[in-house]
Amino acid sequence: MSLRQSWKGPGLKPLEESLLNLRWFFRYGVCMRITVRAVDPEYVKDEILAVALMEEDKLPFPELMKSMRKDEFEPKLGMTYTLDTQGKTGFRKLLLFGLGKKEDFNLDFLRRFGGTAARYAAQLKSASFSISAEVKGVAAEDAAQAVCEGAVLANYKPIKFKTKKEDYFDVQELNLVTKADVSGAVKRASILAEAQNYVRDFNEDPANIATPQKLAEVAKQLAKERKLAFTAMGKEEMRKKKMNAILAVNQGSALPPVLVVLEYNREKKNLPLYAVIGKGITFDSGGISLKPSKGMQDMKYDKTGAVTVLGIMRAASELQLPIRLIGTFAATENMPSGSAQKPGDIITAYNGKTIEVLNTDAEGRLILADVLAYVAERKPEAMIDLATLTGAMIICLGKHRIGLFSNDDKLADAISRSGDRTFERVWRFPLDKEYYEMNKGDFADIKNTGSETGDAGSITAAAFLGEFVGECKWAHLDIAGVDNITDRHGYLEKGASGMGVRLVVETLKSLAKK
Ligand code: BES
Ligand code: ZN
Ligand code: ZN
Repeated sequence: MSLRQSWKGPGLKPLEESLLNLRWFFRYGVCMRITVRAVDPEYVKDEILAVALMEEDKLPFPELMKSMRKDEFEPKLGMTYTLDTQGKTGFRKLLLFGLGKKEDFNLDFLRRFGGTAARYAAQLKSASFSISAEVKGVAAEDAAQAVCEGAVLANYKPIKFKTKKEDYFDVQELNLVTKADVSGAVKRASILAEAQNYVRDFNEDPANIATPQKLAEVAKQLAKERKLAFTAMGKEEMRKKKMNAILAVNQGSALPPVLVVLEYNREKKNLPLYAVIGKGITFDSGGISLKPSKGMQDMKYDKTGAVTVLGIMRAASELQLPIRLIGTFAATENMPSGSAQKPGDIITAYNGKTIEVLNTDAEGRLILADVLAYVAERKPEAMIDLATLTGAMIICLGKHRIGLFSNDDKLADAISRSGDRTFERVWRFPLDKEYYEMNKGDFADIKNTGSETGDAGSITAAAFLGEFVGECKWAHLDIAGVDNITDRHGYLEKGASGMGVRLVVETLKSLAKK
């Protein structure tokens, strides 16, 4: 990433401008520039001014509000009202956004506010807009971060494969109206939301473009930009190392597999070591246990865990988290062919455990088995894996929460709290020994499906992974469902969501503090 910063001195007229001016350029275009302006909202000079209100708040700008009928706007959550100021103010349009009752307030409502304002600016084809980021009862830094995250996330559009880009308007400037010093919060928001957009953009690539090889190239590019250590392991080395579970899944594919390891702060041995691990199936056809064709196109998103790991590495390094961090994933297609693995096959994983492959569509746990066992040898303080692991997860939680499974209560609690803060909410499931027992094999140590009927399918999948983590503190995030959005909402569009980046980075940040 190239980060250009320029500083404007205070006292610039006509607005009392101050502080930060950040500009980013990424491979998918120009991103939003955010400027903090220490000015009262009524003196804003811009196309649009957006203001958020709780139900208890007084309406701003009494003069302008005279034209509004009482029934036209109430500050209920998500309700908006727009008005043309007819030249009475320095801004041409006013957008009011309802935050609901004070007692029900959640910081995510401010992300939705930022997203709504950015979308309104895009709809009016306005290159810039101003947002009042001072919200009564909310810490200035938190408010600024949430508003900026929402705006940057809402400004991303999955249009990389559209040829007529001019049909989609890019809002270029966000002016954050606040008197507090929120430059740090703005920077954090930009780093996190841009990392999430990076994941969304790359994850949108279909399987003919995002091959395992391509994933490795993107990781290498990131490593170069962020000065991370990079290694990529090919088929031959996997054979030597006996990573037979990855190789078995790869058997049916015409493309070779790859295992990528990125490391941030590798040489700083005094910092605590953490690891994040992603499932990188670039296309999951199911293999010989072929999936039905309906919806199969969405299996391009089966690499979400791996791509999210890249986003996490990028954000963690830009935020300069005081930890050492391994980011790793195995990538391969899961395809049927004459050479594909077959139901009933028995393989010996990297850690020596034997696995009966009863269903070739339960391939995620196979590749993760080898990677988890490999990373556990490094003895990190904790490891967190992200995987679109089971369809059963969507049956359990729908698309609103991420499934959390862990062998450590403190780690699980840290993740849960981070989920609430980032609104990438999780729900913890049990991992009792009975679930481990469900995976016992008839002919090998374990089988890759817990039961024929799919009982507790997400839990038995997690328990399968638990066989490969050794003594390590470990958490598994089943991100099936949240990996892609089907109904556009507050600040995310239909398509890859990039969810998991902010959750895991926030978790790592909280662990680093201890
Ligand atoms: N990638 C899928 C899980 C998935 C399904 C993610 C739908 C997102 C949406 C995974 O590899 C899979 O196919 N799991 C099987 C496991 C079963 C065969 C035990 C499943 O969930 O059906
Ligand atoms: Zn599968
Ligand atoms: Zn899969």
